[in-house]
Amino acid sequence: MTEQLRIQELRQQLHQHNYNYYVLNAPVITDQEFDALMRELQDLEALHPELFDPNSPTQRVGSDLSNEFETVRHQRPMLSLANTYNQEEVRAFYERVREGLQGEAFEICCELKFDGLSISLLYEDGRLQRAVTRGDGEKGDDVTANVRTIRTIPLQLQPDGGWPRSFEIRGEILMPWTSFEALNREREAREEPLFANPRNAASGTLKSKQASVVAERKLDAYLYYLLGDELPADGHYENMQAARAWGFKISNAMQKVHTLDEVFDFINYWDVERKNLPVATDGIVLKVNDLRQQRALGMTAKSPRWAIAYKFQAEQQSTVLREVTYQVGRTGAVTPVANMDPVQLSGTIVRRATLHNADFMAQLDLHVGDHVLVEKGGEIIPKIVSVDEKFITPDRGPRVEFIQRCPECGAELVRFEGEAAWYCPNEAGCPPQIKGRIEHFVSRRAMNIDTLGPETIDDFYARGLIHNIADLYDLTVDQISGFNDNRIRSARKTIQAIADSRQVPFERVLFALGIRFVGETVAKTLARRFHDIDTLSRATLDDLLQVNTIGQAIAESVIRWFADMDNIFLVERLRAHGLQLQLSEHTLAAQTDRLAGKTIVISGVFAQHSRDEYKALIEQHGGKNTGSISAKTSFILAGDNMGPAKLEKAQKLGIPIVGEDEFLQMIQ
Ligand code: IVH
Repeated sequence: MTEQLRIQELRQQLHQHNYNYYVLNAPVITDQEFDALMRELQDLEALHPELFDPNSPTQRVGSDLSNEFETVRHQRPMLSLANTYNQEEVRAFYERVREGLQGEAFEICCELKFDGLSISLLYEDGRLQRAVTRGDGEKGDDVTANVRTIRTIPLQLQPDGGWPRSFEIRGEILMPWTSFEALNREREAREEPLFANPRNAASGTLKSKQASVVAERKLDAYLYYLLGDELPADGHYENMQAARAWGFKISNAMQKVHTLDEVFDFINYWDVERKNLPVATDGIVLKVNDLRQQRALGMTAKSPRWAIAYKFQAEQQSTVLREVTYQVGRTGAVTPVANMDPVQLSGTIVRRATLHNADFMAQLDLHVGDHVLVEKGGEIIPKIVSVDEKFITPDRGPRVEFIQRCPECGAELVRFEGEAAWYCPNEAGCPPQIKGRIEHFVSRRAMNIDTLGPETIDDFYARGLIHNIADLYDLTVDQISGFNDNRIRSARKTIQAIADSRQVPFERVLFALGIRFVGETVAKTLARRFHDIDTLSRATLDDLLQVNTIGQAIAESVIRWFADMDNIFLVERLRAHGLQLQLSEHTLAAQTDRLAGKTIVISGVFAQHSRDEYKALIEQHGGKNTGSISAKTSFILAGDNMGPAKLEKAQKLGIPIVGEDEFLQMIQ
């Protein structure tokens, strides 16, 4: 099934489950299953911004509020802008303004639409008081500590600036292309998931719990909207010039125009020129300049009538498909990649595009030598949109068929039910899988052996020094250095780093093993529940399914992994080398069964711990955390601002509500 079809299917299923739950009060799936479907949809939608649908079930939770920050109400709601996509719609906006102003002359301020995340900054007596994300438009997250690390945001305004005593300024937080690319290069080296675009990277960064991380990542900010009771001028453009003098970063790409033709000139100019900008833009914003006229035009429920966004088309180019090659990942999944004649697209030269999977490839009906349309929208990875049909000739090249054998080791590929990918099943003998597993094992979030990068692993593997993760612990300085004196120092360091990794706690070792579907969180859950690898290896399917958040796919994968004798030998060798294969005394001592048999729903915003921490505490004390309230709920752990629907349901079912302090006392 293609990802597009899967998105449609998930949306439809989730709408139905919502209805079953909220309207019929008769859910047919568990909360965990619901959450898993929702997460799958969120992930797929993040990969396919072009398939955005405001009515998708994900949009009900579409605010950027998170539980880690204090939620604060905006003094004035943060509206969004209506979007237009072509000249006609821009013309229609212009005409609406003309009519709305009853023939009065007006100026339009044209500016760039920055593609980051919007922020509201409050200044009092020339000092930054508070920075709040857009959130749901009514209230957002207080991210002041993080925003203070952004150097282009003034903490103290220019001394003789003449700024009002109190005002709000809004703008966009952005990650410049260069920082974004550097960050993704680092993440790639550490095997962390890449950010799809600078906007996601900026947003992820701003929501970091450590301001130091934000400081490192070099964010930037452009401001574009001044609000307050005493503004310096009667025009938006003039206010922006004043704000620049106070110390704010205001784009120079801002122009006042008097005619629609000038608006189109601005659009056409920046549609090309924006490719040379250091930050991402996704359109143009048009604003009626005069503040009095803005007030006269007013707002609709969602957006001002005095402004509009024009969104650029994603850039497309035609090029020739030369060959489809295949990449084998750590899990054996085979990804087809289109190799094309190089073509310039949104500022970079594109030679390759992912074809995702066999279905996607088949749908495009690709033939070698075809002219294909390549697009690069908000995402970094270019994609092939279609075959350019006007170039198809009778002597068209051969149709590209998905391979049947692994390009690396020749094994016959297999497909698992319900999955789009084809897999190479030769886990033990297929080089990229072997190397990929070792790379995963040493990665930062797993065993964190940072002296071993992909090239080194490649080298050790090619020299026959390592075939699996246990071999790492047999390596010697002489082997690594090859008796070369210049290499001894770094070889010693590597051996030391490998030896040090024996102290890495059990839950991370479990994650490092690379069992399919056992990510960091699942590894933690399994470690807490089963305490050591032997108990885990003896767990039955039922034992595993009993564990909160462990579903069928994970449970089966764990069973399969321990059923393989090679893996059992591997574990024995790791044990002999002294790796941590059980929870530490310390972690075990912290476990109790004070909440055994209790099913607990978490709701609201908390002061003392994050939501994830409370989740962990519940599990650590033997309780079960679920997402929605039912007759089976033992109590609700409630912070501030518990959702009204949840509150009502809890009251109806007579379920006790327990506050933060009370809960912490319970588990004392
Ligand atoms: S003005 C009431 N100007 O686009 C008008 N917004 O969908 C407030 N944006 O949420 C917005 N560049 O995050 C304005 N030059 C610009 C902008 C801009 C980007 C973003 C902003 C807003 C969204 C509107």
